[in-house]
Amino acid sequence: MQSSEALLIGMPKEEIDTPALVIDLDVMEANIAKMASYFAGRKSNVRPHFKTHKCPNIAQMQLQAGADGITCAKVEEAEALVNGGVLKNILIANQIVSKPKIAKLMGLNRHAEVMVCVDDPQNISDLSDAAQLSGVELGVLVEVNVGMNRCGVDTPEEALELAKQVEKAKGLRFMGLQGYEGHVVMVPDFEERKAAVLRDMQRLLEARQMVEKAGLPVTIVDGAGTGTYSITGDIPGVDEIQAG
Ligand SMILES: Cc1ncc(COP(=O)(O)O)c(C=O)c1O
Repeated sequence: MQSSEALLIGMPKEEIDTPALVIDLDVMEANIAKMASYFAGRKSNVRPHFKTHKCPNIAQMQLQAGADGITCAKVEEAEALVNGGVLKNILIANQIVSKPKIAKLMGLNRHAEVMVCVDDPQNISDLSDAAQLSGVELGVLVEVNVGMNRCGVDTPEEALELAKQVEKAKGLRFMGLQGYEGHVVMVPDFEERKAAVLRDMQRLLEARQMVEKAGLPVTIVDGAGTGTYSITGDIPGVDEIQAG
């Protein structure tokens, strides 16, 4: 550790310049170990959400502990990960639609692997054009709205249509499906939360079945947050948990 960094440890919080990430190292290491041991014996794995710490060094610690990739919310977070040396298996768990952001996303994919979600035919076509122009292959997940009503298509049938479009589109690689049950992660009673998750994630599982039945290989089905990792992580057919 550099001596200037050592001086920061123990500094009174009133003296810390912001923005700054302040962590209790023992607690953070225990949390990373807890998630790693939870997923060690399971079929699903964790793809921790970067927005929680926005620190590539911590992402590296999570990967070393066994996480199979990193989730992030936006292109600039993916950029911070790539600049911090995380080059593989990054997922932007949102749609990227504006021209400048799409261009940045393609730039990152020239030397890293940054996947993205889609829920709209025009966006798929824009991503395909940009990927071909940049000479990259972009990994794509089709997002299913499981009840949060933020993003995603509403039916398994629509998910299949988009999956087929992605599969056919040059420059894109169909990777799988995402369904984030953010509307139920905060339900206070665990049993009620569990019932809501099992009910609402059905739509994602139906989409998986329908896409696989149509002959498209589904590599990743992603979802969940901190409040639901221990529920969604045990649902057969869900591969990754995006808990922050
Ligand atoms: C798509 C997606 N996945 C996962 C998460 C992580 O949720 P949490 O912070 O509750 O772990 C979020 C949070 O906003 C999200 O938007």
